[in-house]
Amino acid sequence: MTAEAILAGEPGKPPEEPGAPSKIPGGRATAASSGALRRPAALFSPMDVSGLIDADGGFVDRAIYSDPALYQQELRRVFAPSWLYLAHTSQLSQPGDFVTAYMGEDPIIVTLDENGQVRAFLNACRHRGTRVCRADLGQTRTFTCAYHGWSYDLTGRLVSAPKRETYPASFSLENWGLVEVPHVSAYKGLIFGTWNPEPLSLREALGDMAWYMDAMLDHDDEGTEVVGGVHKWIIDSNWKIPAEGFASDWYHLDMTHSSVFMLMNRSGQGSRTPVGNRSGRQYLSEAGHGANFTVHPKNRFEAKPVHQHVDYEALRARLGDARVEGPLTYGAGTVFPNFSYLPANGAIRVWHPKGPDRMEVWSWTIVDRSWPDDVKEAQHLQSLRTFGPTGIFEQDDPENWNDMQAIGRGFVTSTLPLNYQMGLGSETHDGRHPGLTAELYSDAGALSFYAHWGRLMNTPAWHENESSAEGCGSEANEAP
Ligand code: FES
Ligand code: FE
Repeated sequence: MTAEAILAGEPGKPPEEPGAPSKIPGGRATAASSGALRRPAALFSPMDVSGLIDADGGFVDRAIYSDPALYQQELRRVFAPSWLYLAHTSQLSQPGDFVTAYMGEDPIIVTLDENGQVRAFLNACRHRGTRVCRADLGQTRTFTCAYHGWSYDLTGRLVSAPKRETYPASFSLENWGLVEVPHVSAYKGLIFGTWNPEPLSLREALGDMAWYMDAMLDHDDEGTEVVGGVHKWIIDSNWKIPAEGFASDWYHLDMTHSSVFMLMNRSGQGSRTPVGNRSGRQYLSEAGHGANFTVHPKNRFEAKPVHQHVDYEALRARLGDARVEGPLTYGAGTVFPNFSYLPANGAIRVWHPKGPDRMEVWSWTIVDRSWPDDVKEAQHLQSLRTFGPTGIFEQDDPENWNDMQAIGRGFVTSTLPLNYQMGLGSETHDGRHPGLTAELYSDAGALSFYAHWGRLMNTPAWHENESSAEGCGSEANEAP
């Protein structure tokens, strides 16, 4: 079966449950120890972060963006247990197709094995730990390490190690395969993976967020595909700032993007555009997901050829008026922790953490598979012109994020609480959109993002709970 058939599921139906068990000796996703190795617990001593987020009062301590120890705890307790975006099913169609990704700072290979099963592996050689795949994407039969030549097949098995006869008799290729991500699953084309050995299913983890995502993913039975390649760029700020912003920050549009609106507004009157003036809603989730969108009967796709091609009545019949007049077009969303999207532009992206002060954005455009080529191209160009690395909106946002990060290093500055009180208490079940929603101009989505972040940061992850564990990966695995 192809990746599409295995992972995409039928539109409107739940995706398949999490996949095959870990390939790590001992069935562990964090098998760091071997032989007589033992990691000292002090390497992973956790901090209580309950004093850093005041979700009821609407305050955030900016240490969450800059502290190196908190960042390391994030990698262990936020990224490791969460479902993280890996790839789109349209990028994998033949056995041996692969793309590379990250889960937190861990490099990942996503590939199709000979049976058409999607697998994700840690992109780290088991010998001395370099990457076994340095390309963004491609087609291969094996992943061969460029350092000493250990070679792995599409199921992650170590199939050859040069000069194997020089190793002790106890050395077995079987024990030194690539570390496999234990659970990989897809929701309507979007493939996610998690290191958590016993996760909620991806569909359960998304909850009502899936309804909002369907506004981008489920226009018809054919689903979506990626067009063009990946764009990557570095932003010198913490990954949570844009992740929170895409979930919640409609507020910044009029000011941050005023020059864009001036260009778009023929009268040249600045930001008083129909978009900026619209009312809307913000969806917030206990799982940290969020979406903010305008509500207007004339919501539409931005690219003219797309707008002219789309059958809005068919979309209303499939998705309902609430979605076509709301999250289908103007707005943005974040699937906790670091996958964000813009439905009107078909822009999807991951904010990969690269230390507390830096992130790498990976961005793609998705389009409806059923659209003619010229309509797909129009959506791709629209996506690049607005939210590509040189896009007219994209240029504005990092100016603020970089500045916020840079001055946060000051001691006095770092002690000032940040204000998240806009629209406090406006959360309600509005009767039109699933789950809890708040006013469009509100910090509710951001606060629920940080509340979930705080819960995870204060919850020992599975790798800290195992019986003889002194910390992450402290227990010896079965490798000799
Ligand atoms: Fe990969 Fe040596 S590091 S073969
Ligand atoms: Fe913006």
